[in-house]
Amino acid sequence: MRPLGPRDVDAVCERVVARVAAAAERSALLQGTLDREALRRAVASVAPAWVARSRGRILGHLATALVDASRGRAWVPPDGASFDGPAVLGALVAAAAPAWRDAGADGFSAWVYDEPSEVGAWTACGATLRARRRVRVLPSTPGPHAGTGLGLRRAGIGDLEVALTLDRWGDPPAGPVPGESERRREVADLLGDPDVDYLVAELEGRAIAQAVVMPLASRRGSRGDAVHLSAVAVDPGRRGRGLGSALVESVLERARSAGYAVAEVNWRTADPRVERFWRGRGFTPTHALLEGPLPA
Ligand SMILES: CC(C)(COP(=O)(O)OP(=O)(O)OC[C@H]1O[C@@H](n2cnc3c(N)ncnc32)[C@H](O)[C@@H]1OP(=O)(O)O)[C@@H](O)C(=O)NCCC(=O)NCCS
Repeated sequence: MRPLGPRDVDAVCERVVARVAAAAERSALLQGTLDREALRRAVASVAPAWVARSRGRILGHLATALVDASRGRAWVPPDGASFDGPAVLGALVAAAAPAWRDAGADGFSAWVYDEPSEVGAWTACGATLRARRRVRVLPSTPGPHAGTGLGLRRAGIGDLEVALTLDRWGDPPAGPVPGESERRREVADLLGDPDVDYLVAELEGRAIAQAVVMPLASRRGSRGDAVHLSAVAVDPGRRGRGLGSALVESVLERARSAGYAVAEVNWRTADPRVERFWRGRGFTPTHALLEGPLPA
C-alpha cells in the first residue's frame, strides 16, 4: 500500500474506465463512459489517495471524493475504488483510515455497484447496507392515464408548513430522522431551488403525498440523462391503495415529457415493502450505499 503518486494516475484512470465500461456491459442502465480529462483531474487532485501494488502492478486504488466533517464521514464515490478481491480493499481501507481520521471522519460511506462481489467486499470491511439506488428507463410515448383523480402541483416556499408534514411521512420507521430545524432548512432549500420540482399530490383538495424531483446532470455514477426522484411519501393512513403508484406514474410522465430518458431513486430504508414498491414500478437496482466505522 502506498499513497497514489503522479506516476500512478494513468494506470488508475485506466482501471476506472475499464470498471465503468464493464459495469455498463452488465447493465444498460449504467453510464459506460466517463469524461477522461475530468477523471484524470479528480484522480490527480485527491490527496491522500492510495494504491495497492504487487510486483509492479496496481491491484487496487482508493480515493475519497471528500470528507464531510459535519457528518464525520469519508465519502467514496462509485469510481473512487477498484480492487482485485476483497483482501485488497480491506488493506486499502486500513491504509486510508488514519488520514480519514485526521480529516475529522469516524466512518466511511461508499456508493458501489449493487452486486454481490462489491457489496460483499465492503461488508467484509465492517460496512452495512444503508441505502439503495434503482433506475428505470422512461417510455418514449405517453403511458395510459389511470384517472385516479390525483392532482399534482409544484409547491413553493409558501407551502413550507404543508411540505414539512409531507416530509415527515417519509421518515423511516426505525430512524434516523433529521432534527426539526435541520428538516425546516432542508425542505425550505428544496422549495426555493429553481432546479428542483417539489411536487405535492392532492386528492379532493387535500395534500396526500409528495415527491421531490431534480435533474442530475453532473453527478458521477449516474447517467447524464437521468432525473432523480426522492422523498416519495404517501399519507400513512392511505397507503396500500395505489396512490403511491399513481403518484410515481404521474411524476415519470412529467419527466418523460420534459425529455429525460431514465429515472433513478435512492432510498434509505430496509423495509421490504418499499423495495417491493420500487420493483413493482419497474425500477432495477444499480448502486448500494455501504457505511461503516473506520478500522481501529
Ligand atoms: C412507499 C410508499 C410511497 C408506497 O405508497 P403506497 O400508496 O402505499 O403504494 P401503492 O398502494 O401504490 O403500492 C403498494 C405497493 O407498495 C408496497 N408498499 C410499500 N409500503 C407499503 C405500505 N406501507 N402499505 C402497503 N403497501 C406498501 C406494497 O407491497 C405494494 O406492492 P404491490 O404493488 O406489489 O402490491 C409509501 O408506503 C410510503 O410513503 N412509505 C414511506 C416513505 C418511503 O419509504 N418512501 C420511499 C423512499 S423514496
